Amino acid sequence: MLSRLLPGGVAVVECRSDPPQAELYPQEAALVRNAVEKRRKEFTTVRHCARRALSRLGLPHAPVLPDRHGAPCWPPMLVGSLTHCDGYRAAALAHATELRMLGIDAEPHVPLPDGVLDAIARPAERSWIRSAPPGTHWDRLLFSAKESVYKAWYPYTGQRLEFTEAEVRFHPSGVFTARLMPRRSAPAPDRGQAPDLSGRWLVGDGLAFTAIAVAGSVDAQQAP
Ligand SMILES: CC(C)(COP(=O)(O)OP(=O)(O)OC[C@H]1O[C@@H](n2cnc3c(N)ncnc32)[C@H](O)[C@@H]1OP(=O)(O)O)[C@@H](O)C(=O)NCCC(=O)NCCS
Repeated sequence: MLSRLLPGGVAVVECRSDPPQAELYPQEAALVRNAVEKRRKEFTTVRHCARRALSRLGLPHAPVLPDRHGAPCWPPMLVGSLTHCDGYRAAALAHATELRMLGIDAEPHVPLPDGVLDAIARPAERSWIRSAPPGTHWDRLLFSAKESVYKAWYPYTGQRLEFTEAEVRFHPSGVFTARLMPRRSAPAPDRGQAPDLSGRWLVGDGLAFTAIAVAGSVDAQQAP
């Protein structure tokens, strides 16, 4: 599903179940040694997906360890993103010579729990959702789009972003745009004003998917 939202050069690997042969490197296993089984499984399977994605790019397998804010750390000159929810795990990886930013997210296609929309949405987003075309849980898609924005933005800039620091507009054709309004000035390779990001969305198989891929290269000095 997610591969339909991303350019051809992106290696996307998805899993609907947890393959018994999926294994962790010792450094990875140490991070989930005391975690509940659900967390261990999603963590292990999504890394299995990541290693298959590395293979598709012709690269050797490597541990996928988190940075201090949880972002996955990739081998040099790669950009990538991970997501997992009940019954679904996915990894997307690309050469940093092709993409500067990459973020993916999958969510169950059900309404958000009470109170969450108010916490994550800006007034214009809430207003649009009230009159949006029926049949789609736009509140859940909004949440997913903001997660994709964050997963694309943070690894590139090293900057965290609150939910209300991005304003998302959906187009029923399957595209969305996100206007970023970070409170801190971006210590980003780009400097200057935060760019608008554009992404794609899709609902299918009971899940809501969003993805952002920004073309352009991260040069070796800028790569995190
Ligand atoms: C980190 C976060 C984005 C994860 O999203 P989620 O929908 O809860 O969970 P998903 O299963 O889709 O994704 C989890 C993966 O995200 C990745 N991730 C975690 N922190 C990340 C970060 N700072 N940057 C990029 N990716 C990150 C990790 O690979 C993680 O999987 P892992 O822990 O097994 O390695 C979310 O929990 C969070 O903290 N959000 C707050 C910030 C935010 O979203 N702001 C919105 C700005 S508009």
